[in-house]
Amino acid sequence: MSSGAWWKSAVVYQIYPRSFADANGDGMGDLAGILEHLDHLQALGVDVVWLSPIYRSPQADNGYDISDYQDVDPLFGTLEQLDAIIAGLHERGMKLLMDLVVNHTSDEHPWFVASRSSRHDPKRDWYIWRDGRDGAEPNNWGSLFSGSAWQLDEATGQYYLHLFATKQPDLNWENPAVRQAVYAMMRWWLDRGVDGFRMDVINFISKQPGLPDAPAVAGQRFVSAFQLFADGPRIHEFLAEMHREVFDGREGTFLTVGEMPGVTTEEAVRYTDPARREVDMVFQFEHVSIDHGASKWNLLPLDLVALKQSLNRWQVALAERGWNSLYWDNHDQPRAVSRFGDDDPEVWAASAKALGTILHGMRGTPYVYQGEELGMTNFPWRTAAQFQDVESVNHWHDVLAGGQDQEEAFRALAAVSRDNARTPMQWDGSGTAGFTTGTPWLPVNPNASWLNAAAQVDDPDSVFAHYAALIRLRHEQPVLAEGDFAALLENDPEIWAYTRSTATQRLLVLANCSRHERELELGDGWIGARLLLGNLPGTEEALTGGAVTLAPWDARMYLLG
Ligand code: GLC
Repeated sequence: MSSGAWWKSAVVYQIYPRSFADANGDGMGDLAGILEHLDHLQALGVDVVWLSPIYRSPQADNGYDISDYQDVDPLFGTLEQLDAIIAGLHERGMKLLMDLVVNHTSDEHPWFVASRSSRHDPKRDWYIWRDGRDGAEPNNWGSLFSGSAWQLDEATGQYYLHLFATKQPDLNWENPAVRQAVYAMMRWWLDRGVDGFRMDVINFISKQPGLPDAPAVAGQRFVSAFQLFADGPRIHEFLAEMHREVFDGREGTFLTVGEMPGVTTEEAVRYTDPARREVDMVFQFEHVSIDHGASKWNLLPLDLVALKQSLNRWQVALAERGWNSLYWDNHDQPRAVSRFGDDDPEVWAASAKALGTILHGMRGTPYVYQGEELGMTNFPWRTAAQFQDVESVNHWHDVLAGGQDQEEAFRALAAVSRDNARTPMQWDGSGTAGFTTGTPWLPVNPNASWLNAAAQVDDPDSVFAHYAALIRLRHEQPVLAEGDFAALLENDPEIWAYTRSTATQRLLVLANCSRHERELELGDGWIGARLLLGNLPGTEEALTGGAVTLAPWDARMYLLG
């Protein structure tokens, strides 16, 4: 992990297999479907593919509840097909990251089946079991997926901890045998040819000893206990141990990404300082929480200044040491163009390209979530019955049980539900968008008739072509990988602007995140800079004066040197 690490000029593409491509017509994406589309990834030019879980799983959380870490769920295919994907990616010069979900397993994992079988089972201590308190839950921790974080096991009379769904019991990382079992499994995957891991909620694995109550919140029986399980007391020790046990001796080609909800910039520097040998980069949540009120279901209007300030702060905080992931979209977030951009067909394409330009100009490793390269949008949900995601479904139960305003709650759900990211990938303009020949497990967005890969891949003006150009620039221009970052016009509510610089190159990124024209004073320092990439026809090829006029959603990158 030198300062010139390969992943500093790399771009990662995330595949959510359930929704990517279905080859066998059962309505659910599969590995054979992925194999058919490796050329799409190559045309886009990405370096790494992060594959969301394909392991054996009862699918309570679409595969983030794993019952066998070393096999492929028949729903998705076979280990041999996964080998073929690894080989197919390697042949095309790409790497594969597996999703490592080890904060918890499925309750159907043999480890948990044994653990729950008896208080005296050798695996009892592999999970977090506690006696109840006064005939109720051991503490007031709330699950991230609604209700208590504890589930009573009637047979043995104790409760187990599940920070997520009841079918996702938390592993006990205090137990060294658990840690060794996880490390052995990771080594097995590396030996099989994978190139690293995206580590699911990895900063949750060290809980505060004693599991004390979280501060009470008036009117709530179960509360967020974030500060008692995120970035806990032994987290750095565990990650350093994992690095030693799994990655030592394999230096150079692998990649580790820690998904870390709530991580601060100070902690992120610690996690990713190369000298500490923990993880290569964090995947942080601050900028995707800007529009959340008390919870993600209390939607606030987008405050662009706050969004810019958040991302700018991360740029500055990790400037000397540490490394960040850059993303707008993933399988847990609503679609960026509907959320941070403008999905009105009139400006949709410009806005999708502008968001791409803003993100891909920054320091860090950019991530593209399937369909983002096409500018896919949120789905026009009509009823709460359409949602399938366990988080959305549980929340809707709470809304009904708590007698909340259903219309308002539905509006929020439609805007933020994770299912927005999970509607089928739009390959072509046919009824099922080329995703399946059967009935898709989630409905296809009706805009697939015009918003699809077939319409974009060969069109030089498409969102796809723009993303491909951004990825090419990341490979070609050292300033994008290495340059120092400086924010411009930080308090402007419409303009996103910053510079990147090295000793020999200066890059200017400008974007007008509004529906009207804006004139900007740049001063004479940028005269002569040439256009690297714009998103509208007729953009000036070079800056000839100290001012520039930006059209609605106009986004540009200019380079000096
Ligand atoms: C992560 C995943 C999310 C999953 C949760 C529990 O946040 O990205 O999809 O539901 O962890 O595994």
